[in-house]
Amino acid sequence: MKRALVTGGAGLIGSHVADLLRREGWTVRILDNLEPQTHRGGRPAWIAPDCDFVEADLGDRATIRAALEGIDVVFHQAAYGGYMPEIAKYVQVNSLGTAQMLEVIREAKLPLRKVIVASSQAVYSEGAGHCPEHGRVYPPVRPLEQLRRGDWSVHCPICGAVISSVPTPEEAPIGGETVYGLTKVDQEKLVLFWGKQLGIPTVALRYSCTYGPRQSIFNPYTGVIAIFCTRLLNRLPPILYEDGEQTRDFSFVEDIARANLLAAETDALDGFAVNIGSGRGVSIREIAEQISDALGIRIPPEARGEFRPGEMRHLTSDITRVRAAGYEPKVELADGIGRYLDWIRAQKDVRDYFSEAAEILRHKGIVHRVAPT
Ligand SMILES: NC(=O)c1ccc[n+]([C@@H]2O[C@H](COP(=O)([O-])OP(=O)(O)OC[C@H]3O[C@@H](n4cnc5c(N)ncnc54)[C@H](O)[C@@H]3O)[C@@H](O)[C@H]2O)c1
Ligand SMILES: [Zn+2]
Repeated sequence: MKRALVTGGAGLIGSHVADLLRREGWTVRILDNLEPQTHRGGRPAWIAPDCDFVEADLGDRATIRAALEGIDVVFHQAAYGGYMPEIAKYVQVNSLGTAQMLEVIREAKLPLRKVIVASSQAVYSEGAGHCPEHGRVYPPVRPLEQLRRGDWSVHCPICGAVISSVPTPEEAPIGGETVYGLTKVDQEKLVLFWGKQLGIPTVALRYSCTYGPRQSIFNPYTGVIAIFCTRLLNRLPPILYEDGEQTRDFSFVEDIARANLLAAETDALDGFAVNIGSGRGVSIREIAEQISDALGIRIPPEARGEFRPGEMRHLTSDITRVRAAGYEPKVELADGIGRYLDWIRAQKDVRDYFSEAAEILRHKGIVHRVAPT
């Protein structure tokens, strides 16, 4: 029998990891502080009664120490996510919280077999591109001045030509152009370096945009699929940043959970940062339209000339590395959206929290508008 600690195990990904591990015969302990923004209704009903549930903050050293007792593999999913206005809290929860957990493991000489950390495609500055003249290039984040003119294109860093998007492999430069992205870089580097120093196998999984049942319907700062669903169910138009033609790679949460199990079981990924995605890019406008069709609520999405500086234009994950280790995404986007909609329809309070949040983001300068000409 293997014993897992799933941090953030009350959340979207962590709870599905916990369920899959239990089905595979693991014993599971969850550590989660039930972050109020995500869990407005308190402890979610989906936490299985046979999981040992520890309600605690990642920053609580003594509790972390106790929660790590007798554990073989840590699935470190807890994080402060999305486009929240805070800066210090990201660093505190994600960077410091991870650093502290690693310190505790080292100091107590805990005999862990592996640590898997949830990283993100947000570690990349911009998706890889193809320049007609220079082939594959890694463009930097688009400058604010360009975005303020309403020019959303991505340019070749060598010749300036407009380039097309191609899948991004792990060797692409990482930087983190948002506070969240920066702290995901911290988390994955801390875990990978630390593991190499201690001889403990580690894996950083760079998830693409993940969606599915249990994605918080309360948190207006994350998950475009969840936000568009709650908007449409409230008969409000989905809001597109830029022109809605930016593309992302979407993963159904059960696929992400399977990637975690694979990373725990194989040694082929040890020591690596690994993209986990579908390998396919979809525009945000297409997502809005698919949800609208599936719900039968036909309210066209609106692009209001708003954008988020630091946000990448295109990101499709190149999943060659994880495929070589035996991973294959299984759930198609249309099926996954259908399953999310079945779940969300069964929820009682599907309010629109986005309108108020959007105002706060504008006020704090996280969302900008195109400059008037
Ligand atoms: N959902 C995505 O699209 C996506 C994409 C890439 C990476 N990730 C990463 O995957 C992980 C899980 O994300 P998710 O989508 O399941 O988010 P989520 O918000 O549903 O789950 C995160 C969980 O962590 C808990 N948590 C937050 N702060 C904590 C703290 N200080 N102490 C203890 N627990 C805390 C929350 O209560 C929540 O249950 C995160 O590390 C996130 O950065 C998510
Ligand atoms: Zn070029």
